[in-house]
Amino acid sequence: MTAVIAIDGPAGSGKSSTARAVAAHLGMAHLDSGGLYRAFTLAALDRGVPLDRGARIAALARELPVRLVLGDGGFFPEVAGVDVSEAVRRPDVTAHVSAVSALSEVRVAANDILRDAASLHPLGVVMDGRDIGTVVFPDAGLKVYLTAAPEERARRRILQEGRAVTADALAAEAERLVARDAADAGRSIAPLHQAGDAVPLDTTRMTLSEQVQAITALARNAFPHLDIA
Ligand code: CDP
Ligand code: CDP
Repeated sequence: MTAVIAIDGPAGSGKSSTARAVAAHLGMAHLDSGGLYRAFTLAALDRGVPLDRGARIAALARELPVRLVLGDGGFFPEVAGVDVSEAVRRPDVTAHVSAVSALSEVRVAANDILRDAASLHPLGVVMDGRDIGTVVFPDAGLKVYLTAAPEERARRRILQEGRAVTADALAAEAERLVARDAADAGRSIAPLHQAGDAVPLDTTRMTLSEQVQAITALARNAFPHLDIA
């Protein structure tokens, strides 16, 4: 069976950056499941599909299609044959993705795509999201729950987007992140929460490379057969 490392946690906690680096270190593929939910949201927005029509949005997976493609080091989202890795970061996508990802039909379609993608890779995947350790891969060999204080997550997101870190920008970004976390944690299907057997990692005072080292060390114990350096 494919090895799976599940990294879940709130928005901007460093999941994707950490997962990408861990996957590169271990020779696994990185898969950002949030990118897939964002691709469904982008496709619905751009095609004028109402954002509460779960079955119609889920059908876009086959119609367009919406899919994940294995590239160098990881999977990227594609809509109708176009790489949408950049487009899915659009602010209007970010504003609506929590509502779209709360629709049961969309989650069923996304879970199929995520599980199929993971089974494609010979060594395994480092998958990040909100419900990877709780729902998508409850038997994952290693589960990590990444957190950081909202103000620190806001600071990182602003820097990541190349904007100026002002008090106003920090307050506005932290408010957006916390509101999205509340929506993701409060929904009835696959809510954001820490799996009982996940290792919590608060990165507020850690560097990216410290996070990567910590998770690589956990992976060494969890997957002794992989002979991780
Ligand atoms: O990168 P950022 O933390 O802003 O978010 P993301 O990982 O791209 O995820 C975007 C949204 O997709 C989240 O706010 C969730 O609403 C949804 N999502 C989900 O429901 N389940 C997942 N496994 C991953 C993301
Ligand atoms: O996927 P998620 O939304 O959880 O976070 P991300 O997209 O990986 O964004 C986190 C940003 O914070 C990236 O620019 C990272 O380089 C940066 N960062 C971090 O992840 N961890 C630190 N300890 C410091 C900075």
